[in-house]
Amino acid sequence: MTLDLDFVRSQFPALDNEWVFMDNAGGTQILKGCVDKVNEYYYSNNVQLGGSYEPSQAASAAFNEGRRNIATLFNAKLTEEIVFGPSTTVLLQFLSKSLAGQFRKGDEVIVTSMDHESNIGPWFELEKLGVIIKFWDINTDTHALHLDDLKEIITSKTRLVAFTHVSNIVGTINPVKKFTQFIHDHGAMVCVDAVAYAPHRAVDVTDWDVDFYAFSLYKTFGPHHAALYCRMDHMIELDNLYHYFYGKDKIPAKMEPGNANYELSYASGAIVDYLIELGSRDKQNGSHREKIERAFTLIADHETNLCCKLLDYLRSRNDCNIIGIDNGNDIARVPTIAFTINKKLSDKICFAMDKYKIGIRYGDFHARRLSDLLMLDQYNGAVRISLTHYNTNDELDRLVIALDQILS
Ligand SMILES: Cc1ncc(COP(=O)(O)O)c(C=O)c1O
Repeated sequence: MTLDLDFVRSQFPALDNEWVFMDNAGGTQILKGCVDKVNEYYYSNNVQLGGSYEPSQAASAAFNEGRRNIATLFNAKLTEEIVFGPSTTVLLQFLSKSLAGQFRKGDEVIVTSMDHESNIGPWFELEKLGVIIKFWDINTDTHALHLDDLKEIITSKTRLVAFTHVSNIVGTINPVKKFTQFIHDHGAMVCVDAVAYAPHRAVDVTDWDVDFYAFSLYKTFGPHHAALYCRMDHMIELDNLYHYFYGKDKIPAKMEPGNANYELSYASGAIVDYLIELGSRDKQNGSHREKIERAFTLIADHETNLCCKLLDYLRSRNDCNIIGIDNGNDIARVPTIAFTINKKLSDKICFAMDKYKIGIRYGDFHARRLSDLLMLDQYNGAVRISLTHYNTNDELDRLVIALDQILS
């Protein structure tokens, strides 16, 4: 069974467009199902939650349905382990604030030089309490994070390690289960940024036993919204971020000050409806979870083909420096492909690409520390082509022809 691209593309009305979208790690197109659900919420459920009257009860039920669906997407054991917020950046700032009370002077937190600033900056806030922040650096030859390097810096005082599941520049899948087990064995918690992972492979927070795990729904085919998983034992202990009189026991609402956006939370559920539908097209049997996993198997296979094609082309050039794994068949690779071209500026390449009506991006992608380590400044950052499962082989051919003309 291969991915039914006609079905896939029919679910994203914005793809009916002369532009080709290859900046998907910046934000994907939205599913029609999500837009429909936003409308449905506004026209049928637009009252404040928590009232005794029937429409208010229905609105509460719709909001809870959104949370339940996203819990399925994370494979969380409990719906209440999911926190909604406007972005991953905000959710990780909330997390660091609500965890701060558990940190003491001399405790250590490890962040990586591979991460987007969203999963670094919030942890630096703990320095005000006397917490020591250490860096787990990538290996600049392999562009990967190696456990041997973490071994050198983790100590009995390490309380948390914040790392990315996939870097939005390197595109390599970090072995989250192995890293988490190692970090737990040293008595520390993990906080994983999965923004660049979640659109490409099935998430399974239960199997991986992560403590905190977040991603942006607007980069995973949904509306401009985000979700954070907090394992229940931690969720119970997190400090309340809502009003002073709001109880610590109000789970997960204590982490959603001023309430999460109702219509976007409800609408995000359509991401799950879509994946279940995608995973049911060859066979109807199985649980929702199994269908989601089947959908991601189809997605990964299609993306691997695209990845191979693009990396084969880039490797065939003698002036291209590919960041991360350069073999598209490697299962540890997602199709977020960044590179530089000798003696060419990345911004110039992107501006030239605009004429071909193909949307790509250049820069440091807010992973400034990684960009500095890889010395990308000399090129005005990297060129990034970030594909997703709705991109086609024809689009990729169009991209390769355009790149060839621009770079010649
Ligand atoms: C890897 C990664 N982490 C975090 C973020 C921040 O996500 P948000 O825009 O939801 O704050 C981004 C955004 O580009 C990202 O690519």
